[in-house]
Formats: sequence, C-alpha cells, structure tokens
Amino acid sequence: MNLDREQTPSGQFFFTKLAEDGAARRGRIDMPRGSIRTPAFMPVGTAGTVKAMYLDQVRDLGADIILGNTYHLMLRPGAERVARLGGLHDFARWPYPILTDSGGFQVMSLSGLRKITEEGVTFQSHVDGTKHFMSPERSIEIQGLLDSDIQMQLDECIALPAEEKEIGRAMELSLRWAERCKAAFGDQPGKAMFGIIQGGDNARLRIESAEALAALDLKGYAIGGLAVGEPQNVMFDMIETVIPSMPKDRPRYLMGVGTPDDILGSVQRGVDMFDCVMPTRAGRHGLAFTRHGKINLKNARHAEDDRPLDEESDCAAARDYSRAYLHHLVRAGEPLAGMLLTWNNLAYYQQLMAGIRAAISEARLQEHAEKVRAAWAKGDL
Ligand code: GUN
Repeated sequence: MNLDREQTPSGQFFFTKLAEDGAARRGRIDMPRGSIRTPAFMPVGTAGTVKAMYLDQVRDLGADIILGNTYHLMLRPGAERVARLGGLHDFARWPYPILTDSGGFQVMSLSGLRKITEEGVTFQSHVDGTKHFMSPERSIEIQGLLDSDIQMQLDECIALPAEEKEIGRAMELSLRWAERCKAAFGDQPGKAMFGIIQGGDNARLRIESAEALAALDLKGYAIGGLAVGEPQNVMFDMIETVIPSMPKDRPRYLMGVGTPDDILGSVQRGVDMFDCVMPTRAGRHGLAFTRHGKINLKNARHAEDDRPLDEESDCAAARDYSRAYLHHLVRAGEPLAGMLLTWNNLAYYQQLMAGIRAAISEARLQEHAEKVRAAWAKGDL
C-alpha cells in the first residue's frame, strides 16, 4: 500500500498547504489523534463501523480519518452510552481522527415524520419510531459525547429541484444554526467545527452562504446540499461559484461525494476532503472498482474467469481471488463477497487519492485525471 503517512502529532488543529496545481491543493491537517493527508477520502462508518471491514484493514489501506453519523449513533447505542464506554474511538477501536456529520442530512433522508423550526428539528427514529428533538446545541453536545475530532454544524439540506424562496430559507436557517453551533462548540484547540455552505443551485445564495460562514472564522468549511439530484455540471458550477468565497487557508470538504470522476473534478476545483458510501455500498452489491474499469460480479460472464480483479494491485482482495470465485460468492449471497469487494473498493479509493496527491505535487493533475477518468468510464456496471 502507498503509506506515505507522516505523523505530526500536534496539540492543535492545523492545516498546512504543501503543493498546488491549478486550483487543486495537496496538504495536511494535523491534530492530536493524527494527521490527515489531503485531498482525503473518508470511508463512511455510519454506525461506528465501516460496513464489512475491520478498522485495522481500513487504516492499512491508507485512511487517515473515518466518518461517523450523529443521527445513527444517538439513536443506537446512544451518545451518553458511547461516552460512558470511553468515546467512539475506544468503542470502535479506531484511535485516529473521526469526523461526525451533524444529523441534519440523515434526519431528512432517513427519519419518518419530521418538523423543522427555528429551535431545531423534531423527528421520528427510523429504528423504533420514537420521537426525538435535536437543536444545534444538542448536535454539538452529542458530537462531543462521541468525542468526535471534526464536528459538523447542524444544517438543513433540501432536495433539488426546489423553489428559490425555499432554498433561501433553508440556507439562512443553516447560517443561524452555524452561529449557535460555533457558540456551543466553544474553544477546543485540538478539534474543529466545520460550517456547511448551503444554497442549492442558486449562485447568489451560495455566495451569500459562503461569505457569511467565512466571517464566522471557522476551522474548516464544507459544501453541502450537492449530489442531491442535480446533474454533475451543476454540482461543478456550484463548487466553482463558492470556492473564491472560501478561505484559502482552511480545509474544504464536499459532503457525500462521490464517484472517482466527481472527486477528480472537485479536486481540480479546489476541494480537499470527501466522503461517500459508494465504495462500501457498491462492494456489498457485487460491484468492484479497478484501475481498468468497473466490474459487475453478478454478471454470468465472470463465472469461469480465473483472473483476479487486478493482478498488479497491492490489495489482496484484488490480487489473490479469481473473478469466478467472487462471482460465486456474490451469487451465493455469502458475507465474504461484501467483505472482499468492500476491501477492494476502499483500496481503489485510497489509491485514487494517493495518485491525486502525487500528481498535484508533480504538477501533472490534469493529465493524471484524464487517464483515471478514461479508465473509470470503462466497465459493465
Ligand atoms: N451529507 C451530504 N450532504 C450533506 C449536507 O448538505 N449536510 C450534511 N449535514 N450532511 C451532508
């Protein structure tokens, strides 16, 4: 694996830019639990587990940070319980940085009946139907109980397409919640609270959101409310719209994105951090990502193919198992199918990010991106 990890333990959250190539940046975030090499991909560990993976394996693949979800963990096993058990790092056996999403987005996408007011959001649990209330202050309190290293503000993310008035209302509410989250978070030098830019597909609202958040002087900024049904060119347009209003010396995180193609285009526009369920979810659905394209292992044409997914990979899942065997495991519904394919896909994503970082350092990102994109476009998904 490409483990060019530099540990620079630091008592403070600190972002250093190491190289630039056009609008793209390579950098490093230092914090007490470890350093994060950027551009970074954060595997999604919703319920305190990256599904179908040992966290040791996730680390060995090159992940410097994983993501957890406030919404899921507050409902099960409960934030106070995790705190009593020593915090999420001890509980899950991941001693490195963890970023937690605030819950706003998951309430919108997963919970039943929900109601948003100035105060916060009331919602029904998707687990057992119980009613819960989350304010910006409670979201930060929960993220503190989990002992999360990078905490996200509570926000309201709406689906697109939507009316301008509705997009504006949600963006302004998210801004007021950002101020309340900042106050609730207070001064914690080793940790960070990130603001989230909203504003849908409306350039004026996006810029207003980015500028108002920049004025709050937060340690990092996310772009939210994208990959919610809009085409890729709209997403790229919105990124280009907000980047000039985002502080150059703070990490920029595009939430919930995306395909390798989305990531490459976003890095080329100045984004530093990503998370997405795509590699893990696709793995559990029989899809493998490789440097030579995508492979749908459900497909009968793999039934007697004794080649591995990628014989040159340094990931054992890609190198040591035949496509025929993986096809058999997928068809038989064996848990090992999801484990091996998730392992392969996370290895692919971490190699993608390592390749991007190297290309930025050597000022050849454009050429590198074209090659990776062409390979990604191939395959039988
Ligand atoms: N994950 C993907 N998009 C979003 C968003 O807009 N807000 C939050 N909180 N999480 C997200």
